[in-house]
Amino acid sequence: MAIAAAPLSNTLNESLILGFSNLRQARTERPLVISRGRGIFIIDEDGKEYLEASSSFYCAALGYSDERLIEAATRQMRQMPFYTSAQHRTLPVVMELAEKLASIAPVPDAHIAFGTTGSEAIDFLMKFMRYRNVERGEPKRRKVISRWGGYHGGTMMSAALGGAKTLHDAFALPMEDHLFVSQPDFLNAGQDGESEAQFLDRLIDELDQTIVEAGPETVGALIAEPVSFSCGFVIPPAGYFARVKQVLDRYGVLLFNDEVVTGFCRTGNLFGSETLDAVPDCITMAKAMSAAYIPISAIAMSGAFYQDLENHSDRHGVFAHAGTYSAHPVGAAVSLEMLRIIEEDSLLDHVRGRCTTFKARLGRLRDHPLVRDVRVLGLGGAVQLVSETASEGATGVSGGIAKALGEAALERGLIVRITGPNAVIAPPLVITDGEIDDLFDRFERALEDAGKS
Ligand SMILES: Cc1ncc(COP(=O)(O)O)c(C=O)c1O
Repeated sequence: MAIAAAPLSNTLNESLILGFSNLRQARTERPLVISRGRGIFIIDEDGKEYLEASSSFYCAALGYSDERLIEAATRQMRQMPFYTSAQHRTLPVVMELAEKLASIAPVPDAHIAFGTTGSEAIDFLMKFMRYRNVERGEPKRRKVISRWGGYHGGTMMSAALGGAKTLHDAFALPMEDHLFVSQPDFLNAGQDGESEAQFLDRLIDELDQTIVEAGPETVGALIAEPVSFSCGFVIPPAGYFARVKQVLDRYGVLLFNDEVVTGFCRTGNLFGSETLDAVPDCITMAKAMSAAYIPISAIAMSGAFYQDLENHSDRHGVFAHAGTYSAHPVGAAVSLEMLRIIEEDSLLDHVRGRCTTFKARLGRLRDHPLVRDVRVLGLGGAVQLVSETASEGATGVSGGIAKALGEAALERGLIVRITGPNAVIAPPLVITDGEIDDLFDRFERALEDAGKS
């Protein structure tokens, strides 16, 4: 059989299914095809350059042409391109990364398990939680609380944890072990006359009631993004996580922080849990962990959580779990290099240093007639637009001005993440002050364009 020629730039896309896209449109209109990257810019097949202000799904922390990451991957490829870490076998690079992550993860006495993607880390963690609870004689503790509007991935379990009802229904997801509570979104969910402190009290009551109604003996954990990027960059009120933890502790329910987006400097600390004063039992991480040059993800679990896994594996002789590509050595080498860059190039200081310009330029948009609110934390933020249609977070449902803004921005050579009525901005962490100005100059022009459309 003859192998068809590679697609030309004027051909359509008959075979490739694109996620978070309209499938008919993806098949009948040629999508944006990216051919190269340079610093924080991406370049399409026609040579047009875009400032990637969402770091491509919040991943590309070092932009698109970091030579050290490329070198680290190449070195590891040459030395040992692959071997599965399982069956009492592994590689030095994997052990080194685990040690390093355990020393920086914001969980006490951390132990590390690897995966390949963010969704996989979430799925594995849910499986580990069940294993732990079986070991503790509480096999019924399977239910997990997550928050409406959140996003935790695309596999069955991680999608069910996501807070988009339309998505649960559209994919007929198995929802029997899932409970939901509100996002800590005072601006959009606060009631008339309610103070932020009263709003927080109401959320805490809601959480308590949800656990009591479900039966505390059936609830295993609550999972939350420290800052929910997926539903438009929701920053919880001060003290939120401490109050949540008090409730969870009362019922023996664990706190899992999904740091897939917030991990590795985005919020101005190494992990979002630190920024938000959260003390999780376990965290998941991916994306910026390897700056996305190659997929790798991880779970950091507390020593106490780990001990139950070890006890159970002793009882059965084996921890019957693995992923062929989990802890891929090339991913581990790239991630280790990323951690070296964070330390040696003082990436955290660089991020903190850029926050002033970033915050000032984002803040300037507050008075624009199309803008309802701006939010910012670290090198991430969002612009919420006025009078928009309702959103269910990262379902891709957005309309009106936000949609027009996304399109206008693209025209202006800028990529932001539109989610519901929000434009989320989270550029590569290596962005300079001059590039931040460039980003917001383009954004302001796109906003004007959107206003006219
Ligand atoms: C907070 C969060 N968790 C988990 C995931 C899933 O990660 P992945 O797409 O690598 O499976 C995502 C993806 O965007 C995410 O934003």
